[in-house]
Amino acid sequence: MRHLISPLDFSVEELNNLLDLASDIEHNPEKYSQICKGKKLATLFYEPSTRTRLSFEAAMLNLGGSVLGFSSADSSSAAKGESVADTIRIVSCYADIAAIRHPKEGAPLVAATKSGIPVINAGDGGHQHPTQTLTDLMTIRSLKGRLDNLTIGLCGDLKFGRTVHSLIKALVRYTGIKFVLISPKELTVPDYIKQDVLDENNIEYKEVRQLDDVMPELDILYMTRVQKERFFNEEEYIRLKDSYILTQDKMKLAREDMLVLHPLPRVNEISVEVDDDPRAAYFKQVQYGVYVRMALILTLLELEVK
Ligand code: NCD
Repeated sequence: MRHLISPLDFSVEELNNLLDLASDIEHNPEKYSQICKGKKLATLFYEPSTRTRLSFEAAMLNLGGSVLGFSSADSSSAAKGESVADTIRIVSCYADIAAIRHPKEGAPLVAATKSGIPVINAGDGGHQHPTQTLTDLMTIRSLKGRLDNLTIGLCGDLKFGRTVHSLIKALVRYTGIKFVLISPKELTVPDYIKQDVLDENNIEYKEVRQLDDVMPELDILYMTRVQKERFFNEEEYIRLKDSYILTQDKMKLAREDMLVLHPLPRVNEISVEVDDDPRAAYFKQVQYGVYVRMALILTLLELEVK
C-alpha cells in the first residue's frame, strides 16, 4: 500500500505520470466521473483549512466517490484524548483512503504506519505539504511548459511555510533550477533544508531581503503568508507580517512572462490590484489543485480507466 507523506515519496518519473494523468483529467473530466463509485475518502483535519479539505472533497466527488470526515480537532475524539494512530485504525474500517492535516510535524507519518488504507499528508505543522506541491508543479508545468531551467523566487515566511519546504524538496530533482530566497532574517529557510536539500544537491541559491532588486530575474514568484499560528510571540508576528506586499508597481519590474503563485490564503502580501494582471496564477492554481488531487486519489487507489 502506498501513502503520500513527503514530496519525495514519488520518483520524478512517477510524478510526471501523475501530472500527465491530472492533465488528462483536466481535458476529459467525464471519462473519470464514475471511476470511484462506491469508494470513500476520509478527511481528518485537526487544523483549519478551506482549499485543501474542500479540494480533496471536490476531487473525490468529481470521481463519483463519497466523502466523510471532520474539520477540526474539537469536533473529533482528539478532544477526548484519542491518538492519531488509534483514529486512523478506526477510520480504516470506514473509508478507502484518508487525507490528514495535523499541527504536529510527523503526525501523518505516524498514522501511515498504523493505517489499513492509503494516507495522504494534507499538511503537518511547519513541515511539509506535498499535495500543495503537486498543485504548484502542475501549475508551473501547465503554464510554463516545463519544470526545469527556472529561476524561482520564494518570498515571505520561508521558516514556517511548509508549502515552501515541500516545493524546494520536489524541485531540486529537476535540472537548471535556481532559487532566490526572499525573507526577513527572522524567517529564512531552515538550516536543515539549506544543508540537506539545497547544498546536498548542489543547487544554486541566494538569500536576499529585498523583493524589488530581484524581480527582473524571476521566472516564478511564489508568495507566501506569514504563518501567524506558528509564532510564539504575537508582537514578532505583527512586526513581520507586512514585510512584503506585492503591488502592481513591483510587477512592473518583472518579466512579461513571470508567473505569480501563492498557495493561499492571502492576507496582505499580494495587493488585490495584482489579481487582474495576466501573470497572476494563484486562482488558476486552485483549479489545478483539484485535478492533481483527483490524479493522486486514483494513483493511490490503483484505479485506471479501462
Ligand atoms: C497553505 C498551508 O496550509 O500550509 N495553505 C494551503 O493549504 N493552501 C498555506 C498557508 O496556510 O499559508
